[in-house]
Amino acid sequence: MSSADALKRKAAEAALKYIDGISILGIGTGSTVNHFIELLAERKSNIEGAVSSSDASTELLKKIGIPVLNLNSVGDLDIYIDGADEINPHLQLIKGGGGALTREKIIAAASRKFVCIADAGKKVDVLGAFPLPVEVIPMARSYVSRQMVKLGGSPQLREGFITDNGNQIIDVHNLEILQPIEMEQTINNIPGVVTMGIFAMRPADVVLLGDENGIQTLTV
Ligand code: A5P
Repeated sequence: MSSADALKRKAAEAALKYIDGISILGIGTGSTVNHFIELLAERKSNIEGAVSSSDASTELLKKIGIPVLNLNSVGDLDIYIDGADEINPHLQLIKGGGGALTREKIIAAASRKFVCIADAGKKVDVLGAFPLPVEVIPMARSYVSRQMVKLGGSPQLREGFITDNGNQIIDVHNLEILQPIEMEQTINNIPGVVTMGIFAMRPADVVLLGDENGIQTLTV
């Protein structure tokens, strides 16, 4: 296990206490969440099911015998566990490095508590060094890219990648996101954008960061 991976594992372990007594979980996507799913294998008897944010997580959940539930059938969730690509001091995030941002944003919105798990290297003062993923309807990708240039970014199509929803992703480089809520609203309003990867209107409630000394717990 690489050292970043060991820190992700620690963060995943720290999240276990947040699911005590909860029978239906929201589950994100990515290498940190994969650790969490592995850990769930030992506690699955207490879990009725999970709402999954991607086909990849769905497959892993099914493999360990956790039923995958439809969000439409379960209503709001008590908890959502997911990773992030960047985390600022207000617990606002960039997500979507794995391309699952749309379902992630839906589940985060439908959850009473969002616990974000990550290695401490994801902590930043200002969001934007990580290229901002924007999921677009394919016919809109050039139009949306031009709008990204107007906002000061350098858009790059994620070549050969199609999301679980059949769309494409533009990764926008060189943005310094000083006003995350405003940027989220602005990009959300561009026709053709399905979802963008700033999670500022619905930030995390708790961030668990694995570092060399243990776990940093961030709340606002
Ligand atoms: C998936 O689309 C992303 O939002 C992930 O949550 C994010 O990329 C974190 O991934 P890792 O846990 O692999 O770092």
